[in-house]
Amino acid sequence: MNRTRISEVLKSEAIGSIFTVMGWVRTRRDSKGGFSFIELNDGSCIRGLQVIAESSLSNYQDEVKRLQTGCSIKVTGALSPSPGKGQSVELKAAEIKVFGWADPEQYPLQKKRHSFEFLRTIAHLRPRTNTFGAVARIRNSVSLAIHTFFQEKGFIYLHTPVITGSDCEGAGETFRVTSLDLDAVPLKGGMTDFSQDFFGVPANLTVSGQLEAEIYALAMGDVYTFGPTFRAENSNTSRHLAEFWMVEPEMAFCDLMGNKDLAIDLLKFIFSWVLKKCPEDMEFFNRFIDKTAIETLENLVVQDFEYLTYTEAVKVLEKAKEKFEFPVAWGTDLQSEHERYLCEKVFKRPVVLVDYPKEIKAFYMKLNEDGKTVRAMDVLVPKIGEVIGGSQREDDYDTLYERIEEAGLDPDAYWWYLDLRRFGTAPHAGFGLGFERLIQFITGLANIRDVIPFPRTPGNVSF
Ligand code: 4AD
Ligand code: MG
Repeated sequence: MNRTRISEVLKSEAIGSIFTVMGWVRTRRDSKGGFSFIELNDGSCIRGLQVIAESSLSNYQDEVKRLQTGCSIKVTGALSPSPGKGQSVELKAAEIKVFGWADPEQYPLQKKRHSFEFLRTIAHLRPRTNTFGAVARIRNSVSLAIHTFFQEKGFIYLHTPVITGSDCEGAGETFRVTSLDLDAVPLKGGMTDFSQDFFGVPANLTVSGQLEAEIYALAMGDVYTFGPTFRAENSNTSRHLAEFWMVEPEMAFCDLMGNKDLAIDLLKFIFSWVLKKCPEDMEFFNRFIDKTAIETLENLVVQDFEYLTYTEAVKVLEKAKEKFEFPVAWGTDLQSEHERYLCEKVFKRPVVLVDYPKEIKAFYMKLNEDGKTVRAMDVLVPKIGEVIGGSQREDDYDTLYERIEEAGLDPDAYWWYLDLRRFGTAPHAGFGLGFERLIQFITGLANIRDVIPFPRTPGNVSF
């Protein structure tokens, strides 16, 4: 079909040119002068195109005057300067064709503000709203920013498996993948007999592509993954999804400082990209969702991030006057209330925390000389808390072997991971950036369920 996207029409400002546009009616308003204003949106940008439909159109009475929010139409007409407020151009319709009607008695999206909770129940229609259209465009643009950042630095984009036989973090929060008949599970010695399952062994959805990324980093230097990850943790919070996207760079011949610098460079690159490439959508979030959205990003592009150790952070938190729900003491994991306190109240900027106690971090993180802490790195931001988690990796065979055992894991299952430390081991490091947490931070949206098209959370797998 011969059509022009509304974003192109608005950009062109080619007064007098004939355009054909197609989209969904946001509103129709009839003027006393015997013509109608139609606000048309096609998802290409947040702005709609104002269409002027004169009563001289052959289908004016029969169709145009019956157009309602949600109808889809095609309009051909000449671009004209708009005398009205709110837009500089409008399309004077010479022809309007209706593709699809939307009965206003039944169409759930009417021209009023709907709650985010309600919109989650109509995830098949919510991309037609301003907020969800803007989120989709920001996600798209940030994805390109991420690939551009790494590609310009010569990183190889690596596709790691979604189904895996290894459990990266060693935690039991995985989704099992099976083709066994769950109503008649084969047993052997009272346990499930996985030898009869599809892979012959238990298999899971991946919680992270990191271990496989390490394999390629120790062959190619700098690699990154960007894919879906799955966690069956039963945390019904505004920052957890059961399915989310993660960006995981992994670099050989790199220590924790190089890792930290890359993380900060990446975030700054993304924030300045969004400001430059998505000004209209950011303007929208700034106006309707978070009045500080743009200012926050602008500051971050130039601001230094705070950098301190876990031990130093715990001292700061122990002295805090703030009443925390969870108490803080050396050795406990930080909660998002603590992370936010550090960013929002103490340092008023993002914070990079390093050197966490080994007990609260994964087995693969490099043990420090103190024998108590590991070269872990979390990047914390205001409003969200942790957006990035990473580390320098343990590259010593014996230490790694011990750490695997300490974590209660079976070293045999990690034979290939250990092999990387037997043959040409090298210092290496990487991190995981939670894509949805990042989008939450950029847009100011309070709930992570509203920054992914189809959220998967405990009890919710609709659409
Ligand atoms: O800190 P995490 O668990 O780190 C890893 O998975 C490492 N293997 C990464 C690496 O070093 N390559 O997760 C990384 C980030 C978190 O900082 C957070 O932003 C996000 O992933 N994340 C989640 N986002 C949404 N829902 C969840 N359930 C998340 N769990 C982690
Ligand atoms: Mg983490």
